[in-house]
Order: sequence, then C-alpha cells, then structure tokens
Amino acid sequence: MAQIHKSTGVIDWLDQRLAVTKLMKVLVSEYWIPKNINFLWAMGVILTTLFMLLVITGFLLLMYYKPDVNLAFDSVNKTIMQEVEYGWLWRHIHAVSASVIFLIMYIHLLTGLYYGSYKKGREIIWISGMVLFICFSAEAFSGYMLPWGQMSYWAATVITQLFGAIPVIGPDLVEWIRGDYAVGDATLTRFFMLHVCLLPLVTIAVLVIHFYSLRIPHVNNETSEEIDFEVEAEIYLKGDKAKSKVIPFWPGFLAKDFMYVGFFMIFFMYLVCFNYGFAMDPINFEPANPLKTPPHIYPEWYFLWQYEILRGFFFDIFGITASNIGLISFAFAGAAFMIIPLLDQSPVVAPAHKRPLFFIWFWLLVIDLIALSILGKVPTGGIMDWLGFGFSVLFLFLFIVMLPAISIIEKRRG
Ligand code: HEM
Repeated sequence: MAQIHKSTGVIDWLDQRLAVTKLMKVLVSEYWIPKNINFLWAMGVILTTLFMLLVITGFLLLMYYKPDVNLAFDSVNKTIMQEVEYGWLWRHIHAVSASVIFLIMYIHLLTGLYYGSYKKGREIIWISGMVLFICFSAEAFSGYMLPWGQMSYWAATVITQLFGAIPVIGPDLVEWIRGDYAVGDATLTRFFMLHVCLLPLVTIAVLVIHFYSLRIPHVNNETSEEIDFEVEAEIYLKGDKAKSKVIPFWPGFLAKDFMYVGFFMIFFMYLVCFNYGFAMDPINFEPANPLKTPPHIYPEWYFLWQYEILRGFFFDIFGITASNIGLISFAFAGAAFMIIPLLDQSPVVAPAHKRPLFFIWFWLLVIDLIALSILGKVPTGGIMDWLGFGFSVLFLFLFIVMLPAISIIEKRRG
C-alpha cells in the first residue's frame, strides 16, 4: 500500500487517496486545445449543457408522469402543466431542449464536416458522434410518445409500421416492437423504459467514448493545421503563453465556452418562456384516438429531411415499387453521415473553403437538407412531389457519386 502521511489539507488528503491533482491535470489543466478555433467549437459544450438540462428536468417530470394509456395524457397536461408548481417550466425546458439539441447537433456536425474533423485519426470521434445522433433520435421519438396525444399515437403507428417492409421478418418485427398487434399500452410502457432508462445509459456511455476519442487526435482547428501538441504544451508550461499554439481545457477553453453558453442560455430561456410552441405540436394537445387519424401526419422538424426522402419517390422505377425505393433511400440517409470517413478518403485535410469541389459539395448538401426539411412539412401533391423527388435524388447523388468522386480527384492531384 502507498505511504499515507499526515495530510496538510483536504486536497492533500484526497491526493494521497485519489490522486485528484494528477487527475485534474490529465483531464483539464493539461489537456490541450488549439488556440485558432472559433465560436463553432463551443457547440460541444452547449450540447453537453442541454443534455444535462434534459436529465435534470426529466427527473422532475418523472415524479408525476404515469406510463399508462389511461393516465399518461392527464398526468402531463393536467397534473404537470396545471397542478404541480413550476411543472410547466420543467416541461417547457425539457421540450425546448429536446428540439434545440438537434439544431445544435446539426451545427456541430456541419462544423465537423466543413473543417474535415472526421479525417486522419478522428474517425472514432465522428462515428461516436453519429451514434450519439442516433441515440438522441431514439430518445426524441420515445419521448414524443409519452404524453399519449394524437401525434404521439399516430407517429408511433407510422414509424413502427415502417419496419413491416423488411422482407420475411417485417410483420413479426413490428409486433415485437409494439408488444401488441397495434400500438397500445405495452408499446407505451416499453418506450417509457427506453426513454428514462436504457437509452440515457447508452447515451452516457457513448458520450464518454466521444470525449475520450478526442484525447489522442485532439480537437481540430480553423485551418486544420497539424499541431505538435507536446512541443506547444511545453512552450505554454514554460510561461510563453502568447507564443504557444495551445491553451489548456480549463481555464482557457472552458471559460470562453461558458461565455458562449451564457449567450445561448438567454436565447434558450426566451424560447422556453415566450416561444415554446415550436417544440410542441398543437395536435398533441388532443388525447390519442386510434379511431381518428389526423389529416396530415408529419414528424418533428429535425426528422423532416429524412422523412421527405422516404416519401420523395412516388413512382416505381425498373419494377421496384416506389415505397421500396423510398424505404431503401430512407435507410441509406440514416447511415450516410456515419460513413462519411469511408466515402471521403482524400488525403487533403483542410477547411472546405480550401477544397473548391468539396466546398460546392458542402453547400449543396446544406441547401438540400433545408429544402428537404421544408418539403417534408407540406402536404404531398402536384409540383411538391416532383420537388421532393428531385431533392431526394440530389441527396443520394451527393453521397453516392459526388463525394467519392471528389475524393478520387483530390487523391490523384495528391
Ligand atoms: C449531444 C451530443 C454531442 C455532444 C454532447 C458532443 C460533445 C462534443 C464536445 C464537447 C466536443 C469537443 C469540443 C468541440 O469541438 O465542440 C466534440 C467534438 C466533436 N464532435 Fe461532438 N458531441 C455530440 C454530438 C456529435 C455529433 C452528432 C457529431 C457528428 C458526427 C459529433 C462530431 C464531433 C466531432 C467531429 C468533434 C471534433 C471536432 C474537432 O476536432 O474540431 N458530435 N463533441
């Protein structure tokens, strides 16, 4: 056993047992971050803040929520919203965080894409990020079901039905997921378990991997410059802080990030108090009714681009039915961002504005995602069908043809 001597204070007492000073050095005060980064690099900390808010408000809501088809709607809309003190506030914070976390995740993802942060040893950061995206999508979908309103019920019916198209096992799989022939009490209780227990546990584990995978390759920077972190850290520690290209995670990086988190929270609290409607569908304030289908079923805004790809193919092509093409494209769209490190193997590691073809690809993708999201919200029919088809084909073209082609061209040019 290590030598334990009379401690000089609390920190020394803890140091002798837990090596806290060493741990803090490794995790924060000597964990090096490049200096040349901008506000877009604060998105990771804003996402962490939103996740913490979701967990805290989730615990508060959990004290009153009842996972039973006969009680769920009233436990949310009456008990929490009208009877529990500040229940409305916890619910608004939870709902607005759930929606805004996707906006920030998209910005974070596009930043990583723009600066090539998925390349050269950063693949696990990227892949774990995309697994987080899937975890949050599953969290959002399962959470949306809990108030047991009209949209909860019908979105659950439509989405679980999609699995029915899988050859051979489809129909059995749908029944297995629902726990019944139709969406009902068994479906609600299992999605409740996923939402409050299994998915948060998996998410926390993946978050740990996401943070840990940054350790060796370090955070990327605005010029994608390859920095020798050991040399720069030594310069910093010798006292030449201005000359060094790096700063420690704490206080250098985090203190600035907290400022961005502060600005963000002003915008966030404005949404929570005065503009929460966008995060709560009005149709969901009607209790679930299996006998009354809403005239227009659509998902939350952050799933719209993928939903539009699902319904964008409205005619059969070469004997393959429109619905099958839509489903295959929908499944591909779900995996497309995950496999970007595979599709783009170009040796050029640089921000998009230094890669002319990639720059065009990036902005075409952003325009396509926005167009698909707008089209996903409007009812089908007429010109909208053709626009949906065109932008869905463009999405597939960007990932299947254009990105690998750019990668090959850049490889040839060296
Ligand atoms: C709620 C989910 C997420 C959290 C809490 C989170 C958190 C973080 C944090 C704290 C960082 C370091 C600082 C920064 O660059 O912002 C980071 C970096 C990164 N994240 Fe995430 N992230 C999440 C989701 C994602 C997603 C969906 C992706 C998309 C693939 C992603 C990809 C990346 C990449 C590529 C980096 C490295 C950036 C660089 O090297 O410059 N993350 N993340």
